[in-house]
Amino acid sequence: MLNKINQLQDEIKALSASTMEQVEALRVKYLSKKGEVSALMADFRNVAADQKRQIGMAINELKELATNKINDLRKQLASADTSLDGLDLTRTPSPVKLGTRHPLSIVREEIIAIFRRLGFTIAEGPEIEDDWHVFSSLNFAADHPARDMQDTFFIQRNPDVLLRTHTSSVQSRVMETTEPPIRIICPGRVYRNEAISARAHCFFHQVEALYVDQNVSYADLRQTLLYFAREMFGPDTKIRLRPSYFPFTEPSAEMDISCNICGGKGCAFCKGTGWVEILGCGMVDPNVLEACGIDSKKYSGFALGMGVERITNLKYRVKDLRMFSENDVRFLDEFQPAH
Ligand code: DAH
Repeated sequence: MLNKINQLQDEIKALSASTMEQVEALRVKYLSKKGEVSALMADFRNVAADQKRQIGMAINELKELATNKINDLRKQLASADTSLDGLDLTRTPSPVKLGTRHPLSIVREEIIAIFRRLGFTIAEGPEIEDDWHVFSSLNFAADHPARDMQDTFFIQRNPDVLLRTHTSSVQSRVMETTEPPIRIICPGRVYRNEAISARAHCFFHQVEALYVDQNVSYADLRQTLLYFAREMFGPDTKIRLRPSYFPFTEPSAEMDISCNICGGKGCAFCKGTGWVEILGCGMVDPNVLEACGIDSKKYSGFALGMGVERITNLKYRVKDLRMFSENDVRFLDEFQPAH
C-alpha cells in the first residue's frame, strides 16, 4: 500500500492542466468519493494494526497534497490573462488624441487672467437664485421689465426661485458678506428665456467685475476698462463710453472698442461705424451698496459685466452661437490655447 501511495504522490506532483474542465476532472479522479484517495481510505481497514499509524499519516498527507495541487492549478488558470492572446505587443500604439480647451473657456481664462493682474479675485454664486440677489438688491423696480417671465426662467413663484439672468447677482452676495475693499471677478453661466437662434441662446456666459472701496472713482473704472481692452484686443485698441442705463449703476455706460477687424475704419462687422460694443458698466448705485449693508457715504465702487460669447465672437469670429454648445469636435478642434 505504501508503494501505491508513493506512486500517487509522484503522479499528483506532476499534474498539469490547461482548462478548468481538466482541473475538475483531476479533482474527480483523486478527491471525489469514488476517487483514488477515498479508495485508499476504504482499504485502510485491511491494514495491519502495527502499520495503521504510518499508513494513516501517509494517506492524510496524500490527500492534502492533492487538495493543494488542484487548488493551485485552479488559481493559476484563473489569473492567467487570456485577453492578450493573439495581440501583437510589439506594435506601435495608435496616437492618443488630446482634447482642446473650449473656446469659451479659453476666453474666460484670459479675461480672468487680465483682472487678476489688477488684484481681482474670483467669486462665484449659484445659478439657481432668488429674486433678491438677481433683481431687488440690484435696485430693479418691482415692475422692471427684466423681471418678466419672458426673460426670466422661474422655477417657483412666491417665494421666487429662478435661474439667474446675469452674474451681477454675485455682486450682492459678496457685498452682503464682505467688508470693503472688495475686488472680485465673477465668471458664470446665465439663463434667459430666448428662442434659440444663431444670435441668441437660452444660456450663455458672463463675467462680472466689482470694485468697492473708499474713493473709487469713474476715472478708476475708465482706466481699468482701457487696460482690459488693450490686454484683450491689442495695444492699439481704443475705447469709448456711451451713456446708458442699468438699475444697479449710476451713472451707467456701455463700452465700445475700436473694431478689431477693420481697425476702426469701418467694415461690415462694425456696420461701418468703426466701433463694437463689448460690455456694460457704471458706478455702483448707492441704493445697491445700502441694500447689501455697505455704507454708501463711506464707500463707492464700480461694476462691469460682459458676455463671454460676445468677446469670443470678436476674437474668433464664430458666426453661430449654437456652435458653442453642440460639442462638434470639428469645431472644438480649431481652438488651441495661446499658451
Ligand atoms: N448685468 C448686465 C447684463 O446682464 C451687465 C452689466 C451692466 C453688469 C452694467 C454690470 C454693469 O456690472 O455695471 O446685461
